[in-house]
This record gives sequence, C-alpha cells and structure tokens, in this order.
Amino acid sequence: MTANSDSRSRFGKRADLLIHEAEPFNAETGRDSLLSSLTPNDAFYVRNHGAVPALDPTGWRLRVDGLVERPLSLSLETLRSAFAQRTVTATLQCAGNRRAGLIAVRAIPGEAPWGPGATGTATWTGAALADVLALAHPLKTAEHAGFEGADLSPEAEPEQRFGGSIPLDKAARSEVLLAWEMNGEPLPAVHGAPVRVVVPGYIGARSVKWLEHIELRASPWPGYFQDVVYRLLAPEQRPGPGVGMALGLVALNSDVLAPRDGASVAAGEVEVRGYAFAGGDRSVARVDVSADGGRSWAQAELLDDLGRWAWRHWRIALDLAPGEHEIVVRAWDSSAAIQPEDEAGLWNPKGYVNNARPRITVRARAAT
Ligand code: MTE
Repeated sequence: MTANSDSRSRFGKRADLLIHEAEPFNAETGRDSLLSSLTPNDAFYVRNHGAVPALDPTGWRLRVDGLVERPLSLSLETLRSAFAQRTVTATLQCAGNRRAGLIAVRAIPGEAPWGPGATGTATWTGAALADVLALAHPLKTAEHAGFEGADLSPEAEPEQRFGGSIPLDKAARSEVLLAWEMNGEPLPAVHGAPVRVVVPGYIGARSVKWLEHIELRASPWPGYFQDVVYRLLAPEQRPGPGVGMALGLVALNSDVLAPRDGASVAAGEVEVRGYAFAGGDRSVARVDVSADGGRSWAQAELLDDLGRWAWRHWRIALDLAPGEHEIVVRAWDSSAAIQPEDEAGLWNPKGYVNNARPRITVRARAAT
C-alpha cells in the first residue's frame, strides 16, 4: 500500500480523494464526487491543522463559559437528549478553495494547491447552538461565540488548539449547529466526532471540529487561526497578529466540474456542469456560461435547490463547432454581486478567496 492509499483507508475515504498531505491529513474531493448533490461522507474533503485526536465519547464534556450567567459542562448524552434535534443542509467551503488558480499567478510558498474540491455539502444533525447558549444565558457584554477544538496544531505559533469565533448575532440563529451526525451517519472521527460546530455561510475554519469549549467573549477569538491566518492580506502585507481582514462570510464562487480543462470532446451538443455557492445570507441567483471566452453568454439551468445554506449545481448544453473553445462561467448572487473576471487581481499572500470566473479550454473534434 502506498502512503496515500493507506491514509485514505485510515480515514474511510474513497480512492478519488486527492491527497495534499498525509499527516496532518488534508485531502480534497474529486471532481466526479463534487457532481453529487450531497457529498457522500467518504468523498467529503478534509482540512486539518494537526493530528486527528482520539476522543472517548463517554468521557467527552462540552464546557460553555466566559461571559455567561450560568457556565455549563454538558455530556454527549445531555446534549443529545436535553435539546431539540435539528437538521440543516449546508455547504462547507474552505477559504483556500481554488487556491491553485492563485498559485498559477504567483507562487504561495507553504500553502497547498487546492483545486475546486475544498468544499462539499452535507446534511448535518445536532442541537442548535442557540438553544445551548440560551441555557447558559450570555451576559450583555458578550458579542462573540468562541469555539475551541481538542486538536493541538504544531503549525500555530505558539502551538495551540484549533479555534475560532463568530459574532453572537450569527451564533444565536437556528442554522448554527453542534452536530453529531453527517448525512444520516454518526459524525466520522476525521470530521470532528463526537461533536463539531457547523456555521452555514461562513468559511469552513469557523466550523470547529472536536469541539470541547465554547467561550462567550467581548472580542473575536484571539488564537492563531483567527488572529493571524484565515485573514485576507493585501499583496504586500505579511501575516501577523491582526494584519489584514478576518475572513467570515464566504464570497460568491463557482467552478466547472465537467468537461475537464483541456478535454477533447465530440463537436455538437456538449453538456457543461458545475457548482456555484454564495455565502452569508445570499443565494445563487443566476449562472451564465460563455463558449467564446466571455464575448457572449447563455444562462445555465440551476439544478436541485437544497435550501438557503447549500450550493447550487448547474448545467448547460452548448453547441460546439469543431475547433478550440474557451468556456467561461460567471455566477450572480441575490445581492447582484458577480464573480471577478480573473485571478490576477485577487492574488494574496495566503491564497484565500479565489472566486474568479472559472475558465476551461476544450477542443471539439469533427465527426469522422
Ligand atoms: N476544526 C479543528 N478542530 N481543527 C481543524 O484543523 N479545520 C477547519 C475546520 N475546523 C479545523 C477545524 C477548516 S480550515 C475547515 S475548511 C473545516 O474544518 C473543514 O472541515 P472538514 O475537514 O470536516 O471538511
């Protein structure tokens, strides 16, 4: 067995997962698996900053403290039985999704070249964070909900557990879950068992896995993964505490999943498919596709609507004459935002938020 197939089987993943790093395990969903409306658990991307911790669900406790009237320590059993169970279909998307396109503009040392598969959509089941917070009773001075996982990250300076926070306004909304189930199955260890946070519409980094601690705070999480990384820097800036803009809401994005860039297809009707996603409270309103490098556009058909927190797949049949065609896609969201034209203007030192219009070139072969 190669190291890669060994790590795939260790974490229960299928063969088309593309491995960026075996330890800590980091791997993206394959293009074919991204075409599923819901991403199967064995195909779902994994983004880790440290080793997967082995947690014993019976001894596990969730501490809720900080700016609360009533600090809590909840067992898994209590979390599952004392609060209403809720299910939300939500897309997770890493801020580094599609970084490869930025690396093509200029090198980004130390960061992996993620393609379009640092994203996936699942049905998550658990308790609403809002219900747990209501029991703890946040003080008036609380403005952020901080989350801390059990995993130690050697990448962080100084070494620390992975953590992050979201504004309390968002934490108090019913879609934010403390989830123990993913697509109807117990949450897999690599995705945060026994319990993870799921923050629909926010970058994946805020959906903290192996959750052990919720801290209500007056200011955002001061740890490395919010104060130094997962921040958008200007091209000339260097990462440091508080430098740049902390990322939160996911920017409008899309990618082409089929055909592949560089593919050779039979001339005539060619089906083009992909996904689009709008974070925050926005939704995908329209997807346009051009077969002539962006000079003319046609509207794609939007497929399954999985609800306000999920991506939208799309498809269009293009009539391609023999020869080479540059296919470009632009998604629009419900605020009438549109994807930026190209990657050159989006380059940033950590390689986040590449939401440029995807472009592929295909060669249509004449029938012989
Ligand atoms: N939570 C912990 N405890 N440790 C981590 O390394 N990675 C975050 C987030 N939660 C991370 C974490 C990042 S950057 C992303 S994009 C998502 O988890 C990925 O979730 P997944 O691995 O379940 O797909």
